[in-house]
Amino acid sequence: MCGITGYIGYRDAYPIVINGLKRLEYRGYDSSGIMMYDGKAMNLSKTKGKVADLEFIVNNEEKRKAGKIGLGHTRWATHGVPNDTNSHPHFSEHGDLAIVHNGIIENYDTLKKELTRRGYTFKSDTDTEVLINLIQEVKKNNKCKLGKAVQIALTNVVGAYAIAVFDITKPNELVIAKLGSPIAIGVGKENSEFFVASDASPFIEYTKNAIYLEDEELAIVKVGKDIEVRKIMDDSMVDTNIQTLKMSLEQIEKGGYDHFMLKEIHEQPKAIIDTYRGRMLPDQGIIKMSGVDDHLAKFLNADRIIIIACGTSWHAGLVAEYLFEDMARIPVEVEYASEFRYRNPIVTSKDVVIAISQSGETADTLAAIKLAKSKGAFVFGVCNVVGSSIARETHAGSYTHAGPEIGVASTKAFTTQITVLSLIALKLAKEKGTLSTSAFQNYLRTLAHIPSQIEQLLKIDDTVKEIAAAYKDAKNCLYLGRGFNFPVALEGALKLKEISYIHAEGYPAAEMKHGPIALIDENMPIFVIATNKGHYEKVVSNIQEIKSRSGKIIAVVTEGDTQVKEIADHVIEIPETLEALTPLLTTIPFQLLSYHIAVMLNKNVDQPRNLAKSVTVE
Ligand code: G6P
Repeated sequence: MCGITGYIGYRDAYPIVINGLKRLEYRGYDSSGIMMYDGKAMNLSKTKGKVADLEFIVNNEEKRKAGKIGLGHTRWATHGVPNDTNSHPHFSEHGDLAIVHNGIIENYDTLKKELTRRGYTFKSDTDTEVLINLIQEVKKNNKCKLGKAVQIALTNVVGAYAIAVFDITKPNELVIAKLGSPIAIGVGKENSEFFVASDASPFIEYTKNAIYLEDEELAIVKVGKDIEVRKIMDDSMVDTNIQTLKMSLEQIEKGGYDHFMLKEIHEQPKAIIDTYRGRMLPDQGIIKMSGVDDHLAKFLNADRIIIIACGTSWHAGLVAEYLFEDMARIPVEVEYASEFRYRNPIVTSKDVVIAISQSGETADTLAAIKLAKSKGAFVFGVCNVVGSSIARETHAGSYTHAGPEIGVASTKAFTTQITVLSLIALKLAKEKGTLSTSAFQNYLRTLAHIPSQIEQLLKIDDTVKEIAAAYKDAKNCLYLGRGFNFPVALEGALKLKEISYIHAEGYPAAEMKHGPIALIDENMPIFVIATNKGHYEKVVSNIQEIKSRSGKIIAVVTEGDTQVKEIADHVIEIPETLEALTPLLTTIPFQLLSYHIAVMLNKNVDQPRNLAKSVTVE
């Protein structure tokens, strides 16, 4: 993972690089560093901890900020523990070259042994320091320029990388390269300045022109000169494809909320509208999705749909399993990408694979897609980040249009993924005739109502805070749901784990009796989804079983419920909707609950320990 950023041009580089790092902290935040070139020397500042800790150090010494060229890095440790020495940037042994790197050099040990044999010594335990010394060694042996040296060095590397490299002997240029990890280059007016970053957020206020490097591409940017992009392996030139960014600065700021997570929870009504806008056309009685329309036969003739994803996206995939099977009667399998890619799965050209990913960069999902493609499957992506690796690697897809999600715990990405997947399921059901026209129309009307219902639901904040206060000190929690709401139980438990570090498990309600029931006592809070459709009576029986074992019951029910209210310790009401759409509502109280518990426990809501938003390592 890790976030990298850099600048070369006519402005002071420090504010650009440090603010860029703050925006990229979602990618990793266990240590950070910055290199500033002041025209004479490369000044290095590195520390374990957050970017704010780095800023504190740098602020104490003006010299550390000077210069029009800078490289920055915020780290999620892979090789070497998070400490000052292992933080990036790393210098080559001779001190001429500096590098920031996102990814893993898998053959670093072999390379390190060879370099050690040639007399190199290493300060850190990182694979990145090995790479920069390899570049130095190639440059020395081939007497070539930096760009060529980086290119040759990378042909010897196994693994993944997005790198930016600076050479003090050529202080007018940066060399940037990519394989597996994302990298964007911001292009200033008439090439007067260049920005480098893991995504475009660090430079959005300076330029809307960006190049996203493809895998195995290397770019040389020189102030005032045209950008040169080459293929690393065969040295062929690549046409530079400058894109115009649509992202705005407001989208990536907190906008008055205390945390990104809270902002993103509250953005869900708008995000869902953005997701279905222009696609769901109730007046015409149709759903228009070009990604699906263009490949309709593939979907309709599919033997089965295989969904691959990780984390929260995998939970959205589980909801989709219920949706596709129930509405469109297509068999579905939902797989963890990390398992799928290594278990020699049976996949044929008659399968449609749907890969779900907020970031579009998750390494396991990407590898699973490549595997499915190699076996002849048609692969469809559901991504949030436009132009991401997964969006590019898939045959077709639908974006969720949720806008940037910065909080590490995913919220609006989840509900917009479910929205897209609902639209696809409904569309296929209509095409296959497995849903009557009136039922289809009813779904469209009801889905169009969901955003205002979420608005209404978000007003229950005070009730949720009371519940959060009552259970914030629990050591273990159980989340139960059935049918469409079983995945919501899993997602509710995940949210709590991620940001409050309370152990929580999600279970299908009826499975409780096969194990979790043994855990129940008067200290155990159990969050149960008991909406009035979907096995209501059976879930009520489960609630009774909890009650008779003195467990604390917090139930999510449909407005007007009376039965559960009599038994539960707390109830949270959601507005009435169709059963298949309830996950879009039932998930909201759980997001708020986890948020408030984490705040009450004084945890870092947006940057929980050990996690990262975009997991580009396997
Ligand atoms: C990480 C994030 C999760 C996310 C998962 C999958 O674990 O912390 O929030 O659900 O990766 O990410 P993706 O971008 O593929 O949806």
